[in-house]
Amino acid sequence: MKDIYILGIESSCDETSVAVVKNGREVLSNVISSQIPIHEKFGGVVPEIASRNHVEAISNVTKKALEEANMKLEQMDAISCTYGPGLVGALLVGVSYAKALSYASNIPLVATNHIEGHIAANYITHKDLKPPFLCLIISGGHTHLVHIKDYKEFEILGKTRDDAIGEAFDKVARVIDLGYPGGPKIDKLAKEGTPNIKLPQTYFENLDFSFSGIKTAVINLHHKTPDINKADLAASFEKAVTDVIINNALKAAESLKINTIALAGGVSANSYIRSRFLELEQTHKMKIYYPEPILCTDNAAMIASAGYYNFINGITSNLELNAIPNLKISEK
Ligand code: KG4
Ligand code: ZN
Repeated sequence: MKDIYILGIESSCDETSVAVVKNGREVLSNVISSQIPIHEKFGGVVPEIASRNHVEAISNVTKKALEEANMKLEQMDAISCTYGPGLVGALLVGVSYAKALSYASNIPLVATNHIEGHIAANYITHKDLKPPFLCLIISGGHTHLVHIKDYKEFEILGKTRDDAIGEAFDKVARVIDLGYPGGPKIDKLAKEGTPNIKLPQTYFENLDFSFSGIKTAVINLHHKTPDINKADLAASFEKAVTDVIINNALKAAESLKINTIALAGGVSANSYIRSRFLELEQTHKMKIYYPEPILCTDNAAMIASAGYYNFINGITSNLELNAIPNLKISEK
């Protein structure tokens, strides 16, 4: 079979990234230009600044991605760009750039869902991973428990009713003065603490999530108890949110009789969450997957991989493509 090369373009939030991926699973290049240092001083992503920086970075990042892969644009079989969900101005930079490249070079355009990209990051790290499996997408913008029935067949089993899990990490970190982005900072601090503070967890009849109760409790404790041990607070926060996601993932695994769980999204880089899920291999005979750290947070290799599965399933787009900031996973 002929090899298929996809150029992936990601610009949904604060990373400008372009990648070349072969046959959906082999990364030839994955150039990521992060704006984190630019947004750090504002304590979060400023949409206007993000768009402007994407515009400045995108052509150089693309050039570099093709150079590192040692390939030319004309050798690409398709251009896969993130068209949602995300910040509209940021998304539009990648979408417009991808449309222009596609038009100028007559290469098919593929519109790819960012969340499906996070799922596909697992296909790159784990060449043996095939649907069906459960995927827990835990990122700054999303918390979804999804049944991956096939490469393009998804069923959302549960989602957050309030904050995304990464948002809760970032807000807690901001309040306890750790800075932005909070996830990696809480991860580090929690290692020095003990999860000895009880926090209120919310469980629903179905598989939905809620993290605002845990977040608010941590913030209140911090304000009311000035000498509280921050490391213990961080460790207790991590334990509380992890108990909730493990509970829901196991409930889904039992009812669907699936023993494979993949983690995805920025928060799946968290070392405590990874270790708690890995324990399930022994205690519950589960098979646990998660992407290598660089593929957990936003990157274009995952967009090229998800785009590959769109492309080989005949899902292509045209120049009418627009960004969809609140795009959902297409359920089947
Ligand atoms: O997937 P991502 O790059 O962007 C979205 O699509 O939202 O995720 C970013 C989120 C941020 O909330 C960040 O704090 C969190 O992932 N994050 C982590 C860790 N690394 C990144 N959260 C917990 N522990 C980490 N090690
Ligand atoms: Zn993301």
